[in-house]
Amino acid sequence: MFALLLLLAHFALCSPLSRPHSTSASYTVKESLPAPPPGWAAYSRAPGNHQLKLKIGLTQARFGELEQALWEVSTPGHERYGMHLGKEEVEELVKPLEDSLALVDAWLEEHGIPLSALSRSPAQDWVTLMLPVSAAEQLLNTEYHVFRHTPSGDYLVRALQYSLPAHLHAHIDVIQPSTTFARLQPKRRSLHGERISLGSSAAAIPTSCNSTITPACLKEIYNVGTYTPSATSGNILGIAGYLEEWANINDTNWFLQTFVPEAAAQGYMFSVELINNGTNSQNESEAGGEANLDVQTTAGLSYPIPNIYYSTGGSPPFTPDLNTPTDTNEPYAEFLAYIQGKTDAELPRSLTTSYGDDEQTVPYSYAVRVCNEFAQLGARGVSVMFSSGDGGVGDGLGPNDQAYGPTTCYTNDGKNTSTFLPGFPASCPYVTAVGGTYREGPEWAVPFSGGGFSKYFSQPSYQALAVGTYLAQNPAYVSMYEGLFNPFGRAYPDVSAQSNNFTVNLGGEWVLEAGTSASCPTFTGIISLVNDHLITNGRPALGFLNPWLYAEGHYGFNDITIGNNPGCYTNGFNATVGWDPVTGWGTPDFGKIAQIVWPY
Ligand SMILES: *[C@@H]1O[C@H](CO)[C@@H](O)[C@H](O)[C@H]1NC(C)=O
Ligand SMILES: *[C@@H]1O[C@H](CO)[C@@H](O)[C@H](O)[C@H]1NC(C)=O
Ligand SMILES: *[C@@H]1O[C@H](CO)[C@@H](O)[C@H](O)[C@H]1NC(C)=O
Ligand SMILES: *[C@@H]1O[C@H](CO)[C@@H](O)[C@H](O)[C@H]1NC(C)=O
Ligand SMILES: *[C@@H]1O[C@H](CO)[C@@H](O)[C@H](O)[C@H]1NC(C)=O
Ligand SMILES: *[C@@H]1O[C@H](CO)[C@@H](O)[C@H](O)[C@H]1NC(C)=O
Ligand SMILES: *[C@@H]1O[C@H](CO)[C@@H](O)[C@H](O)[C@H]1NC(C)=O
Repeated sequence: MFALLLLLAHFALCSPLSRPHSTSASYTVKESLPAPPPGWAAYSRAPGNHQLKLKIGLTQARFGELEQALWEVSTPGHERYGMHLGKEEVEELVKPLEDSLALVDAWLEEHGIPLSALSRSPAQDWVTLMLPVSAAEQLLNTEYHVFRHTPSGDYLVRALQYSLPAHLHAHIDVIQPSTTFARLQPKRRSLHGERISLGSSAAAIPTSCNSTITPACLKEIYNVGTYTPSATSGNILGIAGYLEEWANINDTNWFLQTFVPEAAAQGYMFSVELINNGTNSQNESEAGGEANLDVQTTAGLSYPIPNIYYSTGGSPPFTPDLNTPTDTNEPYAEFLAYIQGKTDAELPRSLTTSYGDDEQTVPYSYAVRVCNEFAQLGARGVSVMFSSGDGGVGDGLGPNDQAYGPTTCYTNDGKNTSTFLPGFPASCPYVTAVGGTYREGPEWAVPFSGGGFSKYFSQPSYQALAVGTYLAQNPAYVSMYEGLFNPFGRAYPDVSAQSNNFTVNLGGEWVLEAGTSASCPTFTGIISLVNDHLITNGRPALGFLNPWLYAEGHYGFNDITIGNNPGCYTNGFNATVGWDPVTGWGTPDFGKIAQIVWPY
């Protein structure tokens, strides 16, 4: 589709991407890609003076123990259930061996990099340094190129492979930016966003939650009843924002005046924390469709629980023609470093992120490392939610953004075989992935609801029974879709929520928005209420949800049994009784969940 063969031929003939430099240590390849992912093409050599913010992930010596602790504190019935780890305890479990630190330091010094130029994460498991491309090429025995993403016109400075001295392979998990081509994208359906007018009568009373969604609809459909949370329990709801998506305060105030007047009367508003030189412009014409959807949805449900919008800077575009030495670092890693640095009291108890990308655009080693960071947050008692994606079993990037689209459903391993396209971070077993529904009485699976099976992460034991049951009861899929999905992979979504026709105030206009970008903050809002119920009763917050969800939490969910999630020229999977890879366990019933976790 994107003329990759031509590109490969071009490289083979005239531009080898990795020309060995002469170095003393014996270098061997640490990571390589057969070709840039679909949609990406090499544009030029990277300017030698382009500054990279290189992040070296040192091997986390005791991650197995951290993972064990995560299962124990997250599994109901275990004697450690709810006994979340503190910041220092987690750091102790992920810090690298002394050997790793010493060997990596020696290698950097050998290349003329003074140790004073390095910054380190609190656990010392990440080393960060600014380095021009020319020096990074020597260090990693590679060549950096500018790559262009044809559909969007974005540019990235990346390498198709890099090498390390053989003796360092066991001490370094990953070095980025190098082979990561992921473009963190908002999971918001671009085909929606049409303007509407609200009637002058009190819009707080929805005419029909069957077609358009307001906070009152969500409270009704998810059985919130008259539950009133506390503003002061210490519970915080976090919203991650990237890509200069700006959350507008005036719009959100208008939204609250209209739908949650008591919140507006109290002057309730999300607060903002800026990360990595992030910004949050309040220019009305720059209000972010994704950001406003996220903050208005959570505020509408969770008032008066404090909400924090984290705006992380440091993203493309990089403009090669201007030869700007712009940093093209992954904003993700910056956010994670910031949030890991929070004290236990400052950490949000629930965190919603409506951004992601195809799993295969994230190199395996980096996906594993990022996924492990979510395990650290889970061990500290944070419920981490991600949108499951908006392309059904594909990525929805076909013509007209239709879930049925033909598209990019091919592997990126050089073999170009047909495949479904699982999304990351939804496919990480340490996060809770949120799919989408629409309508009510009953709710249906929305056709774009992202779902499927990871090719990177094996099926965690907490979901083996549920997923095994689904495949046993729908054996046709295993044969019909043979080779397209990995039946032994981590399956998602775990849950779902409303995701279509959300009423949002954007730049002073009322618009309708859709996507698992809407369901993720919705579900997070409900979980924040459950956490409030627990905390005000002196109980620990839910923390990492999945072991609880698959063991007993699912009894508090509305099972969704209608609909399917087409993609890649197939009908995708069917929603069925019990767990399914379209809607997970279904949508939350606050009243029932509250009774399950702490009867009142
Ligand atoms: C992969 O195969 C499809 C279908 O045959 C083709 O359209 C596409 O161009 C191929 N892509 C690459 C990179 O070879
Ligand atoms: C979304 O809302 C519009 C405007 O109210 C309505 O025409 C449309 O049918 C709704 N879509 C769905 C799927 O309910
Ligand atoms: C802010 O919102 C109000 C509605 O609450 C609107 O009348 C006003 O024009 C908005 N202000 C700006 C600067 O956009
Ligand atoms: C933020 O911007 C300032 C001034 O431009 C710069 O000195 C600093 O390095 C930047 N910080 C980060 C984390 O990029
Ligand atoms: C607001 O943003 C628009 C669009 O980016 C821009 O044209 C305008 O100049 C900005 N207004 C102010 C006051 O900065
Ligand atoms: C929602 O719409 C569906 C299909 O049109 C209908 O069967 C159902 O009764 C409606 N639900 C409500 C609560 O109006
Ligand atoms: C999925 O559901 C549709 C509609 O109910 C049905 O026709 C189809 O046979 C189901 N597919 C499988 C594999 O069960």
